[in-house]
Amino acid sequence: MRSAGRIFELRVNGADCRVEVEPETPLLFVLRNDLSLNGPKFGCGLGECGACTVLVDGVAARACAYPVRLARGREIVTLEGLGTLEAPHPIQQAFIDAQAAQCGYCINGMVMTAKAFLDAKPRPSESEVREALRYNLCRCGTHVEIVQAVMLAAERGWRRDGAATE
Ligand code: FES
Repeated sequence: MRSAGRIFELRVNGADCRVEVEPETPLLFVLRNDLSLNGPKFGCGLGECGACTVLVDGVAARACAYPVRLARGREIVTLEGLGTLEAPHPIQQAFIDAQAAQCGYCINGMVMTAKAFLDAKPRPSESEVREALRYNLCRCGTHVEIVQAVMLAAERGWRRDGAATE
C-alpha cells in the first residue's frame, strides 16, 4: 500500500484535479497511475527518449523527469488533451495519413513535441523539423514518415489555435 503523500492540485487537459503523492513523484507516474492518462509512455525513465512528453505551459517536457511539485499552477496537456479517435487533432491526423507509426510507442512524444514546435514555428523547413525531433527516439526507424507527417501538418495550414486552414 502506498504511503500518504501530499495533496497537489493540478490542471490537466483543461480540468482541475487533486492527487496525493510525494513531491518528487515524476509527473508521468501521476498522469498514468493516478489520472489514468496513458498517452504519455514510460520509455527510458531518464529524460532521454521522449516517449513521455507532455506540454507544460505549451512547452514540451519530459514527464518522467519532471517532479509533480513543479507542475502546480501550470497547464498540463497530454495526448488525450489534443484530439479523440472520432476527432483527431490535425497533427494526429497527419501522422495517420502519413502512416508514421509502426509499433507506436514513440508516437506520443513525436506528436506532443511536434505540437509545441509547430505552435512556435508554423511553417518550418524539413531540416528544422528534423532538428526539432532530433532527441525523440524511434526504435522502429520510422523517422522518415514522422518528419513527413509533421511537414504534412504544416502544409495543411497549421495555426496556433490548433485549426487547419484547408
Ligand atoms: Fe521520459 Fe524516456 S521515458 S524521456
